[in-house]
Amino acid sequence: MKSGLTLGIETSCDETAAAVIKTGTTILSNVVLSQIDIHQKYGGVVPEIASRHHIEAIFPVINEALEKAGVDLGDLEVIAVTYGPGLVGSLLVGVAAAKALAFALKKPLVGVNHIEGHIYANFLDQKVLDPPFVCLTVSGGHTDLLLISKLGEYKILGRTRDDAAGEAFDKIGRVLGLPYPGGPQIEKLALKGEQQAIHFPRALQEEGNFDFSFSGLKTAALNYLNQAKQKGEQVNLPNFAASFQWAIIDILTEKLMAAAEKHKVEQILLSGGVAANSFFRRHVRDRAARRGLKLFYPPAHLCTDNAAMIGSAGYFRYLAGKRSDYSLNAVANLRLGED
Ligand code: KG4
Ligand code: ZN
Repeated sequence: MKSGLTLGIETSCDETAAAVIKTGTTILSNVVLSQIDIHQKYGGVVPEIASRHHIEAIFPVINEALEKAGVDLGDLEVIAVTYGPGLVGSLLVGVAAAKALAFALKKPLVGVNHIEGHIYANFLDQKVLDPPFVCLTVSGGHTDLLLISKLGEYKILGRTRDDAAGEAFDKIGRVLGLPYPGGPQIEKLALKGEQQAIHFPRALQEEGNFDFSFSGLKTAALNYLNQAKQKGEQVNLPNFAASFQWAIIDILTEKLMAAAEKHKVEQILLSGGVAANSFFRRHVRDRAARRGLKLFYPPAHLCTDNAAMIGSAGYFRYLAGKRSDYSLNAVANLRLGED
């Protein structure tokens, strides 16, 4: 059936999500059931608990997405599901549900890379973007700088050698006793702080190096807190948060701009949960405007994990003739471009 309707399913971490998308760009429904409240008391995601909750939630969430879209299962043209990267036990729940539906309904099944989904969140306001782009995907698990010369083709210019940017936010958030996830909490604290108050280090600043490293920053931030504690000094938390956030945003932005310049690309994309950060969005917007670069980023609620982005990426894969069979399996460390 050529309805252009895709059911997207996403369960790679702690969100059980389903969405119905038309022609890869129009959201008819987008249901995200977050487990954040459940994991908050542990200070991070507990994989076994996450998969158990996905099992309970997956079909109610899918039904809600279909209902909200006013779509019957039979109307769907394609079923798209995240099969990696992520927590294997969580991924398996979405993959099994998608395979069962595709088999029962005799509909094409398309496995989607979660990171590709984050990139396609940029397509969800009804426009198909035209490459080339340089894209920075910054989430809790990934910090990838990519050159996209053609839709669906990714050249990795650089990636993190240790922690992802979101992971650095979350780890420091936890040390500060802030609720999980730390990124939005640090952004809030930073609003009243001074970003130049504390100078934190930036790693791998040599020209032409597009890799990232945040472990040195994390250590410097921990040392700062420990030294203050030893001296019995009170840390100015807004200043600490603003300076820490600035150290991350500054290096992300510098490398993104340098990559666009080196590859003579005039369009840049942001994606992933950290791209929901308003300070980051504003800073990149200013820098891009000064250089005459066109910048795209999804609305904040589509930067964090959702199934609409999976539906979009899945539909464009489907249009490109890509299909998965019933041997589709969860791949915890799936890499972009290797699927
Ligand atoms: O893309 P995402 O929802 O899940 C992964 O694929 O990892 O990203 C979640 C990450 C978390 O590390 C969270 O702290 C970070 O994105 N994040 C933010 C903000 N909102 C979410 N980091 C900084 N500022 C924010 N406003
Ligand atoms: Zn994600």
